[in-house]
Amino acid sequence: MARQMHLSFSAHLTGAHPAGWLHPSTQLDADTDIGAYIGLARLAEQGCFDMFFIADTPAARTTNLTAWARYPMFMNALEPLTALTAIAGATKYIGLGGTCSTSFTEPYNVARQFASLDHISRGRAAWNVVTSANDFAAQNFGHAKLPPHADRYARAREFVEVAKALWDTWEDDAFIHDRAQGLFFDPGKQHAVHHDGPHFKVDGALNIARSPQGRPVIIQAGASDAGKALAAETAEVVFGSAIDIEAGRAFYGDLKGRMAAFGRATDSLKILAGMPVVVGESQQEADDKHAELQAMVHPDVGRQRLSTDLEVDLTQLPLDEPVPEDLIPKTSNFHKAYFDEIVRMIRVEKLTLRQLYTRYERGTRSVRGTPQRVADVLEDWFSTGAADGFMFILHLQPKSLEDIVRYVVPELQRRGLFRTGYTGTTLRDHLGLARPANRHAKAAE
Ligand SMILES: Cc1cc2nc3c(=O)[nH]c(=O)nc-3n(C[C@H](O)[C@H](O)[C@H](O)COP(=O)(O)O)c2cc1C
Repeated sequence: MARQMHLSFSAHLTGAHPAGWLHPSTQLDADTDIGAYIGLARLAEQGCFDMFFIADTPAARTTNLTAWARYPMFMNALEPLTALTAIAGATKYIGLGGTCSTSFTEPYNVARQFASLDHISRGRAAWNVVTSANDFAAQNFGHAKLPPHADRYARAREFVEVAKALWDTWEDDAFIHDRAQGLFFDPGKQHAVHHDGPHFKVDGALNIARSPQGRPVIIQAGASDAGKALAAETAEVVFGSAIDIEAGRAFYGDLKGRMAAFGRATDSLKILAGMPVVVGESQQEADDKHAELQAMVHPDVGRQRLSTDLEVDLTQLPLDEPVPEDLIPKTSNFHKAYFDEIVRMIRVEKLTLRQLYTRYERGTRSVRGTPQRVADVLEDWFSTGAADGFMFILHLQPKSLEDIVRYVVPELQRRGLFRTGYTGTTLRDHLGLARPANRHAKAAE
């Protein structure tokens, strides 16, 4: 069969757009309403999506609260693994991905939780491995600031290594449940982990059987060199954040090109380009929908978003004068892709602060148009080496997802670019990823 796209979406409950919650179509208390999460997951499942995804950062902001009150991202949300567990019981096929930071957790807990989700969902779990990108999270876990970028990634690398070893502590057929012999498990099929590294010491075994997918699917979304290095070695799905198709192709080629050094085939990693999409019956309607929301962004929010992502305080700058270049920090410590985009707009386009925040879309440019035009853009990315699929970032929920499922998915299906029904039951089946063999069973072959 011809290669087909993989589709996922990020479940910002009132919409990913900073003014989404102000739109009358969104449900204001959806962030803690599991029914709203389940509704979105079922809708995506009707659209045959590969995965439903919940982003996370383990902190609510505690400063500039007036600005954050106007843009409440991550200020009120269900903890992803808990929410995904409930969603698992209310869906059948769709993959369930969630973020968990390696900077503030221990491998044993995370390996155990995601193995549990994989069992509960019968093989649909995925873990987005992030190192976190704000000091608010660090301050909840005994650090004054986020540890340096390189240290976070070194810890993340060792973290994934330990988690994978823990997921292999039991061979697939270890739990024999043999009443005749009186053995619940085969003692020869446990392989305890003895890890003694710079960040973690683990001397023991996971107390849960190897999960349906062997191990959960590993997702990564870093754009930095260290992020790409970690992804090339360990990730099976990567969320891209390229600003346009050329940057998308460069990212795709770069990342897939790094995999050979780790002995990995390029199709064992699927790159899903982060893609804000606005669908309309006409181009004008799609543009108007977008403009309506952009105009609803409050100046405090505009300043706050830019200050966060440029990692410098812009709150005192006048709105209608160009942003001075000498304010730009030398390097970014948080989100490199977002930082680079703002720097480019300041240097090249010489925008005023107001123009900058009205134009700024956090690392991407929204694709707006009719279902045919949106499908054209996706097809272009997919067929010219810029993506294996897409991670939709949607302005409003559930409206924007309904537009994708009702209008864009059928158009992709008509073109033979997307499945018309699920052919497997696990997330690995949907993504076309092999189930990894247990390293100890392999050694014994
Ligand atoms: C689609 C998408 C989803 C992401 N989800 C999260 C998230 O849930 N939590 C988080 O801390 N970072 C998230 N990120 C950010 C990245 O994982 C990464 O932390 C960030 O790009 C900084 O890493 P870098 O310095 O390697 O670029 C996401 C990025 C993308 C493109």
